[in-house]
Amino acid sequence: MSQQHSAAPAPNSAVSAVEGRPDWWRDAVIYQVYPRSFADGNGDGMGDLEGVRTRLPYLRDLGVDAVWLSPFYASPQADAGYDVADYRAVDPMFGTLLDADALIRDAHALGLRIIVDLVPNHSSDQYEWFKRALAEGPGSPSRDRYHFRPGKGKNGELPPNDWESIFGGPAWTRVTEPDGTPGEWYLHLFAPEQPDFNWEHPAVGDEFRSILRFWLDMGVDGFRIDVAHGMVKAEGLPDLGDHEQLTLLGNDVMPFFDQDGVHDIYREWRLVLDEYSGNRIFVAEAWTPTVERTANYVRPDELHQAFNFQYLATHWDAEELRTVVNRTLDAMRPVGAPATWVLSNHDVTRHATRFANPAGLGTQIRLAGDRGVGLRRARAATLLMLALPGSAYVYQGEELGLPDVVDLPDEVRQDPAYFRGAGQDGFRDGCRVPIPWTRTGPSYGFGDGGSWLPQPADWGGLSVEAQTGEPGSTLELYRAALAVRRERADLGAGDAVEWLRAPEGVLAFRRGEFVCVANTTGESVPMPAYGRVLLASGEITEAAGEAKVPADTTVWWSGS
Ligand code: NOJ
Repeated sequence: MSQQHSAAPAPNSAVSAVEGRPDWWRDAVIYQVYPRSFADGNGDGMGDLEGVRTRLPYLRDLGVDAVWLSPFYASPQADAGYDVADYRAVDPMFGTLLDADALIRDAHALGLRIIVDLVPNHSSDQYEWFKRALAEGPGSPSRDRYHFRPGKGKNGELPPNDWESIFGGPAWTRVTEPDGTPGEWYLHLFAPEQPDFNWEHPAVGDEFRSILRFWLDMGVDGFRIDVAHGMVKAEGLPDLGDHEQLTLLGNDVMPFFDQDGVHDIYREWRLVLDEYSGNRIFVAEAWTPTVERTANYVRPDELHQAFNFQYLATHWDAEELRTVVNRTLDAMRPVGAPATWVLSNHDVTRHATRFANPAGLGTQIRLAGDRGVGLRRARAATLLMLALPGSAYVYQGEELGLPDVVDLPDEVRQDPAYFRGAGQDGFRDGCRVPIPWTRTGPSYGFGDGGSWLPQPADWGGLSVEAQTGEPGSTLELYRAALAVRRERADLGAGDAVEWLRAPEGVLAFRRGEFVCVANTTGESVPMPAYGRVLLASGEITEAAGEAKVPADTTVWWSGS
């Protein structure tokens, strides 16, 4: 891979081509494309930007507002592109900058916005700065752009502190110095191929503001910020001490996560973004202990949205769902940011599989569970999510009701966490299997050259082709739900819901004329018929003003 930047196309004249409300993002439905697994334009078995471009009409017809693309930058792919070697170049495996330009233009012409992933916590170990830091040795200024430290122990043979990598093992790797001797250690919160930047160094901030401008000039409509909670580390890099890191993660502010200093970075970035027209946005991938701390990222002079991982981690349980919805809305209201809702992404077991298994197994599950129950709940969970005020994220393939592929043979796995063991993640390949477009054919229409992860034998029946026009299919359910959301501004608008009385295990809320009821129990429940059924994830029967809402079903009503 080359460190040369390909010649950048001229700043994108299609920048403001997407007409619409300035605050489009407050209730937008944003579709996540995982480029290597979405569509393969050149038949090499790996998805690419050309594949995405040719499928944009599908996304327009699905009814989403924007597309977030996981990283497609030049990268050795030690962590599927979250190890960036050149932030201003497209990896040849995904195409060229001209392909990125064509994709942005075509998306805009179809009324779709494009959000790209920005990876500022760490670079690849093949990034120019890191290679220089290694070559120039201890004490050189280039080492200050990362966290290099001498080791502990008699001969520096122990890591500088007790932090562990999220992918398992120590968060430090010892380097061999240019003179061939074992030398300093560097920090990597993820894989060793992903050294953490030192954000105290002014050059790091300068570089990232310049990278922001590069992509803003290309015409992108926003950025998803990877590990947005990680860039600032506590002063002195203090030990965690006698704590189990894995039990603290996500439950506590850590010396390397959710430090208050990160907010200064976002205030600077917001000034850059606001220089550009087109109502562009930032969304934070910030795993914080509470939604209240997540709200700090979306204060008026910082980012626009933050993923709601507390919602993603909530079980299919009415009481738990009601609590997280209330807490989220209460946390976001004071800062004036929209709530966001998400059920799946490329890092967790798909929700059709999470909900097929007993609650409490976490977000990395390697069991198929009861697929019928999982799908029913997944469909119901989607209608619930799309009825809540705020913005929602849809992960590619969930609109097909795809389960996780839980039986991938070990030899095809690529998730770096799988190889390091005992990390937080590990089985993320199961949600990354290329999606099926056609009933039959090579890789079910993904591309002509096979698929980088094997697809299951029943993928054809779940394909876009098989579900299109099929009454009751999950794809048609998503299309119908998104169409209703587009017609009725009241669905995503506002910052509150009015809860209605409902039996145990059932959620019911009103938003103006609109009523949503979600039955999370395994039994059918009687409910008042709240007017005209707009949409339901299962069969609703009504008689004499009463409706029967089947097990694990959500229904939308309009009217009374
Ligand atoms: C979060 C990304 O979503 C994940 O895929 C990646 O492994 C880590 N950040 C490290 O960049």
